[in-house]
Amino acid sequence: MEERKKRMLSGIQPSGDLHLGNYLGAIKNWAVRSEEYDCFYFMADMHTITVRQDPAELRRRSLNQLAQYIACGLDPEKNVLFLQSHVPAHAQLAWVLDCYTMFGELSRMTQFKDKSSKFHDNINAGLFTYPVLMAADILLYQPDFVPVGEDQKQHVELTRNIAQRFNSVYGDVFTIPEPLISKTGARIYGLTTPEAKMSKSVPEGCVFIMDSPDDIARKFRKAVTDSDTERCVRYDKEAKPGVANLMNIYSTLTGKSFEEIEKEFDGKGYGVFKPAVGEVVASCLRPIREEAGRLIKDKAYLDEVYRSGAEKASWVANKTLRKVYKKVGFYQGLK
Ligand code: TYM
Repeated sequence: MEERKKRMLSGIQPSGDLHLGNYLGAIKNWAVRSEEYDCFYFMADMHTITVRQDPAELRRRSLNQLAQYIACGLDPEKNVLFLQSHVPAHAQLAWVLDCYTMFGELSRMTQFKDKSSKFHDNINAGLFTYPVLMAADILLYQPDFVPVGEDQKQHVELTRNIAQRFNSVYGDVFTIPEPLISKTGARIYGLTTPEAKMSKSVPEGCVFIMDSPDDIARKFRKAVTDSDTERCVRYDKEAKPGVANLMNIYSTLTGKSFEEIEKEFDGKGYGVFKPAVGEVVASCLRPIREEAGRLIKDKAYLDEVYRSGAEKASWVANKTLRKVYKKVGFYQGLK
């Protein structure tokens, strides 16, 4: 394979507004790497329709999410930013990979099991084959690393298995990617449901990137801590999951260790701790919210970023697709 910089690729579904889990689990780690790596980051709009979407909302969020990516520090000059549906090769490779993925493998995906129990009136084939589309998203770009939160690790592992299976038949076609999961921030839990990951489906416990400082303060004031009598800031994931989650958020944003945080809030109780975490989150998100608010007004600029991103992404993706088509035996007589 040709000599090149190491490559990084990841994506987020525009199925809701970006939240703190997306930021700490994923985007925050993307932005620091654009000098060192060739970076491809996209909005996984094709994935969102595995559950019903309001079309106008999906269009709005696809543009807003681009503004938010840029506001989070992803410079379009240094990162290829694009919309999945603008690059047809994703769907084209997904079909080929469908034929190299086993029914049993897909049945074991925890996200499929979760979503099919949640949306039991719409267990469509797309929900089932979703991880294959994700494998295509990744393998088209031959990335070395896929920075994601912990919940996506299983999908990246399946991607590796599919790639290895394909390579074992046809030779070195795909780079085998590695999931890159940060030590802190990889799993942020809901503020009101510390046993479940933070997600837009529980909005009162979910901090959105575009939330105002007042909303953020309110959400943290209402964060669930624990019901024991100790009432002190101590890291114990089993006994005090709510406190552990808040400490994890605080630690990820300030760089302080759990011991330092315990010392800082020693004898102060949750009434001081919860607003302090809210404060740190609000001041981290404020510049992002303001910049995204400014960018979203410049539709012509965002459209141009999408146009140029689709062009650069397609160039790389089509190269892989051509190779795959050739390997599996699709006749390529057209000039
Ligand atoms: P999605 O859209 O659910 O989430 C996007 C990214 O955010 C991370 N994340 C979290 N991290 C920590 N705590 C949380 N509470 C939390 N919630 C979300 C996710 O791990 C993810 O990194 N299938 C993917 C999107 C996708 C993709 C891809 C990712 C499609 N194709 C190719 C990487 C490569 C998804 O639904 O993520």
